[in-house]
Amino acid sequence: MSRLVAVSGSASGVGAALVALLRERGDTVIGVDRNEAEVQADLSTPDGRAAAVDAVLARTGGKLDAVVASAGLTGGDPAVVKVNFFGAVELLDGLRPALAASSAPRAAVVSSISSTQPFDAELLAACLDRDEERAVARAGQVTADGRGSQVYSSSKVALSQWVRATSVRDDWARAGIPLNAVAPGVVLTPMTEGLFEDEAMKAVMDRAVPMPLNGYSGPEVIAKALAWFVSVDNTHATGQVLFVDGGAEAINRGSERF
Ligand code: NAI
Repeated sequence: MSRLVAVSGSASGVGAALVALLRERGDTVIGVDRNEAEVQADLSTPDGRAAAVDAVLARTGGKLDAVVASAGLTGGDPAVVKVNFFGAVELLDGLRPALAASSAPRAAVVSSISSTQPFDAELLAACLDRDEERAVARAGQVTADGRGSQVYSSSKVALSQWVRATSVRDDWARAGIPLNAVAPGVVLTPMTEGLFEDEAMKAVMDRAVPMPLNGYSGPEVIAKALAWFVSVDNTHATGQVLFVDGGAEAINRGSERF
């Protein structure tokens, strides 16, 4: 069954791999990205997100089978929280009514192994309160305090918690829309290229994200997990964060947590 799917972050890495996989399977994909895409939009601003939602809807006739939010940024800049959290949740919220019109709607986001690492509780709270101004101000403070990496981890903790809380709400679960997250370990994409150029940085990353099972992954590995979550085969998995990380989460959190 050919499906109509919107994918953010479609111009690169995980998003681009997912677009290729879905098209190979015969699906029609609407890519959303600030770079080359069917819908070119900046997901770091409320206006950009609204424009993205409108442009996707204009191409759907009001019915969409799946949405995957993969667009993301790394680093300590406040834009990280704007794209990784607000960009993802506002895109999904905006497209939810079109999903509800599908006979087999599905949604997924890309979280991260970083969601298991230290984060800033105030930044998390601001995101979950959907207070972008407060979140951006807090992200600036966290970076000024020398904890820049916690901006990224906080954005992904917020995204995973949003998925868990939202997935079981009536407008998602009772509307028949599974909502899940895939949390990758280290993936070889343009996002991580810079890390491999610096031996010291690579050593820090390898300690923080141990991947005994098959090492770093390619983006197509993450794309396959996302593709299953948004396929018609997924009828009952919702609110899940699937770590596709070579064992990093099981090592870091231990066997009691699951
Ligand atoms: P990437 O850098 O290859 O692709 C990210 C895409 O998002 C790019 O096409 C970029 O143009 C788009 N994007 C960024 N800001 C945007 C904005 N303001 N508006 C619209 N589009 C925007 O990165 P990658 O690796 O494919 O990352 C995809 C997702 O996977 C991200 O959410 C990232 O946080 C997550 N992730 C990546 C990991 C890795 O090791 N590469 C590990 C864990 C999670």
